[in-house]
Amino acid sequence: MEIMVTPSREDQLKEKPEDDSRLGFGDIFTDHMFLMDYQTGRGWFNPRIEPYHHLAIDPAAMALHYGQELFEGLKAYRGPDNGIYLFRARDNFERLNKGARRLAMAEVDIGVAMEGMKKLILLDQEWIPRSPGTSLYIRPTLIATEAHLGVRPAHEYLFFIILGPVGAYYKEGLNPVKICAEDQYVRAAVGGTGNTKSAGNYAASLLAAEKAYKKGCTQVLWLDARERKYVEEVGTMNMFFVIEDEVITAPLTGSILPGITRDSVIRMIKDWGIKVSERALSMDEIIAAAKDGRLREAFGTGTATVISPVGQILYKDEEYVVAGGEMGEISQRLYREIMAIQYARKEDPYGWIERIG
Ligand code: COI
Repeated sequence: MEIMVTPSREDQLKEKPEDDSRLGFGDIFTDHMFLMDYQTGRGWFNPRIEPYHHLAIDPAAMALHYGQELFEGLKAYRGPDNGIYLFRARDNFERLNKGARRLAMAEVDIGVAMEGMKKLILLDQEWIPRSPGTSLYIRPTLIATEAHLGVRPAHEYLFFIILGPVGAYYKEGLNPVKICAEDQYVRAAVGGTGNTKSAGNYAASLLAAEKAYKKGCTQVLWLDARERKYVEEVGTMNMFFVIEDEVITAPLTGSILPGITRDSVIRMIKDWGIKVSERALSMDEIIAAAKDGRLREAFGTGTATVISPVGQILYKDEEYVVAGGEMGEISQRLYREIMAIQYARKEDPYGWIERIG
């Protein structure tokens, strides 16, 4: 399928951020976007790159009423050789399609989507920031556009990709964040959609996030839906805890997101000869370890956040300090090593990065 490109006119071009060392997350978007349409019986058609613009969708579009929406998050990095690199990009599209199957949506044509994304990044490459820790965030999104109010899977979809230069996700940057374990609200249950990147999962998290924010927490630490006992994830990140010599993260039982950074981190830690377990981990075990000094580190992993150390955990109004509120040794090493691979500063032994320009 040929991808039509309509470049922005000179007067449509936006102003780029003046100082990319001060970038935040998610407010700035580049000059162009990729789009393609789907209809049952016809498949995907009209892949195109256009100037970034508002979408016109029918008010009866099914995404707005019944939540058939999925997104992805990945990044393009500028290497020291001035090359443009992607990290495990195909995995993001495969995860999107897994979500599409769960939400009974049309699966995207990965080949066309990847080609469109690469073309878009190359067209807007001047937007890729260069300051340390910055990158071009890529947000592929799939929505049901059919105008219909009966509850059933839609027959029409729009897939689009937007881009924006980003810095650190949290205002804390690399400083450890405080997280609040949530024992009232639930993010997702096994058998639900918690392992997809669907908008509804994020909507379900917002009230608890507000509550946590009022207690000085940056994120909610979600517990399992059945017993409110075992740690799951924090919504924007998968979580890892280091107790004595074991690195522990929740298993992929269906209620948490199968993070690509999570998977990469597990692989790297294993290669360093450190024990890593995907197993159920209760708050009781974490607290007991925190109390007698065996909880050495806690950190989150995600595309937007990369590696984010946790300095305090609040649970039932008690605060537990982790690693003296500092970034732990394993978190630091992971941060350094994964970024070195993503930014092509060192050899990638895993075949995770791809140079696209
Ligand atoms: C990401 O890490 O890319 C995410 O999608 C998390 C969040 C910004 C929603």
